[in-house]
Amino acid sequence: MGLVSLFGAQVESRVAFLMVGEIVVGAVLILAFVLAARHKGWYHHYMILSAFLADELVMKPLMYQRLALGVFGSFPYPGTIGLPHVLLAVSATVLGAVTVILGFRFRVKKKKKMFLPPKGRIHKIFGALYLASWFATMLFGIRIFASFYL
Ligand code: HEM
Repeated sequence: MGLVSLFGAQVESRVAFLMVGEIVVGAVLILAFVLAARHKGWYHHYMILSAFLADELVMKPLMYQRLALGVFGSFPYPGTIGLPHVLLAVSATVLGAVTVILGFRFRVKKKKKMFLPPKGRIHKIFGALYLASWFATMLFGIRIFASFYL
């Protein structure tokens, strides 16, 4: 597989795809959160669902595949932070799935607008936990990238 230059390192094109892809997913998650905070529930739900599904159906399976193939040696790669990274990624997946279910469970649609009634606050709590664990996973991922390639 060809090598490409990313953040000053020569990496496989698949590694670059994963890094850039996760940065794009993170940017869309932030944008979707800002939309929710601005009460644009309709746009929020489309945007965050796209980011969540792209992450869970494309990016994460590719990463678990690399893990299963032992690309970096045997897990949890002694001396690295691979284990907390994977545990956080799995927690984020569970929290995200619960948040999506709670979003659909409690949303109220009126004309072209979408709201959450007070009892839908649980969606916001799980959503905040999902976002915190997703970004924590990403920080650990960046550290792993730095320790392998920089
Ligand atoms: C992983 C997926 C999701 C995450 C992380 C997430 C996260 C959040 C967060 C943190 C808030 C509160 C923002 C704030 O008030 O400052 C929020 C609000 C909201 N979410 Fe989600 N959400 C997700 C998916 C969904 C889905 C699938 C729906 C609809 C089916 C939805 C509908 C809403 C609505 C209607 C609001 C209230 C917007 C308003 O205040 O008017 N969310 N979400």
